[in-house]
Amino acid sequence: MRILLAGGAGYVGSVLTPLLREAGHEVTVADECWFGVHLPEGVDVVRADLFSLNRHFLKGFDRVVFIAGLSNDPMAEFDPALNFVQNAALPAYMAYEAREAGVRRFVYGSSCSVYGFTGDEICTEDHRVNCPYPYGISKWQGEQGVMHLAREDFSAIALRQGTVNGHSPRMRFDLVVNTMFKSAMTTGRITVNDPSIWRPLLDIRDTSRAFLAAIEAPESVSGVFNVAWGNLRIGELAELIRDTLVSLGGPQAEIETLNRSDYRNYRVDCSRIREVLNFTPRYDMAETVRSLWEHRHEYGDMEREDYYNIRVFKKICEHLQVSRLRAPGGDHA
Ligand SMILES: NC(=O)c1ccc[n+]([C@@H]2O[C@H](COP(=O)([O-])OP(=O)(O)OC[C@H]3O[C@@H](n4cnc5c(N)ncnc54)[C@H](O)[C@@H]3O)[C@@H](O)[C@H]2O)c1
Repeated sequence: MRILLAGGAGYVGSVLTPLLREAGHEVTVADECWFGVHLPEGVDVVRADLFSLNRHFLKGFDRVVFIAGLSNDPMAEFDPALNFVQNAALPAYMAYEAREAGVRRFVYGSSCSVYGFTGDEICTEDHRVNCPYPYGISKWQGEQGVMHLAREDFSAIALRQGTVNGHSPRMRFDLVVNTMFKSAMTTGRITVNDPSIWRPLLDIRDTSRAFLAAIEAPESVSGVFNVAWGNLRIGELAELIRDTLVSLGGPQAEIETLNRSDYRNYRVDCSRIREVLNFTPRYDMAETVRSLWEHRHEYGDMEREDYYNIRVFKKICEHLQVSRLRAPGGDHA
């Protein structure tokens, strides 16, 4: 198939692209390349703002996969106006143009962040969402804009990913497992704000496999799917990372608990993706830590600016010709 990865030069796209090529698909990446290009040689990269691509450009693609936009809470909170444009309006625009171009399927990279604060309940895709913060609202709006375009000749699939972690050639250290790994390695300490909150978690190799399953599923399939390896409390996750690092010969990190509350606390059920897309995850979080450990010599200074989306994004915003009130904020998802 001819596949367009919109936002494919990012963290997920840099692992998904080689997987799709290995599966025999032809990949074009369209991306503004905020974090550079870390894709394999020979991949066709169109450097463009996705708003500039219309139905004429999209004609001839079999699948459009949307993995662009602002990809965490700190970015969304720093510039809520841009967030709603990039995360809500942009996927709706692209899905509309793709359908007009005759593309058969649009796959949207959604997020379990839409569940927001649902606590101990286990959320299926039919559970109410509760996300009164810019990132969650915008991912929810983007999903709505895409999904309601589904019809017989246009399949729409939304993958609500848990927090994705693990090694990518375009690395991020602002995702929970990666952040804990980095701080254990560099400071010997893992900081936990609130040990009791739940997070669905997912290895980057598995999220890429889930996108492949969505791309290749029979064209009659449309729908919203949770995708995660499982759910862990943040305190349990910190212990798992500490213990895995010790078993690999790494440092014995100390866990520091701050008891600061979080506005996100959600856990999800993933039966639907197993039953409909025949997808089961392969990598647990110990495997994820192992992959980070194996690549540890490649990272250099793990505080480097481009490992943190918000640090790069603040600079991008400085160049935009708009002046808005922007919030200060932390670095991490
Ligand atoms: N990483 C996670 O844990 C996670 C979890 C759930 C959902 N998601 C979603 O999955 C997708 C991919 O996440 P990621 O971690 O790879 O993000 P990322 O920030 O690494 O990559 C996003 C890419 O999109 C590009 N981009 C953004 N807006 C653009 C525009 N208007 N035109 C052209 N290019 C544009 C950026 O240059 C970047 O390369 C995002 O939509 C994110 O919201 C990610």
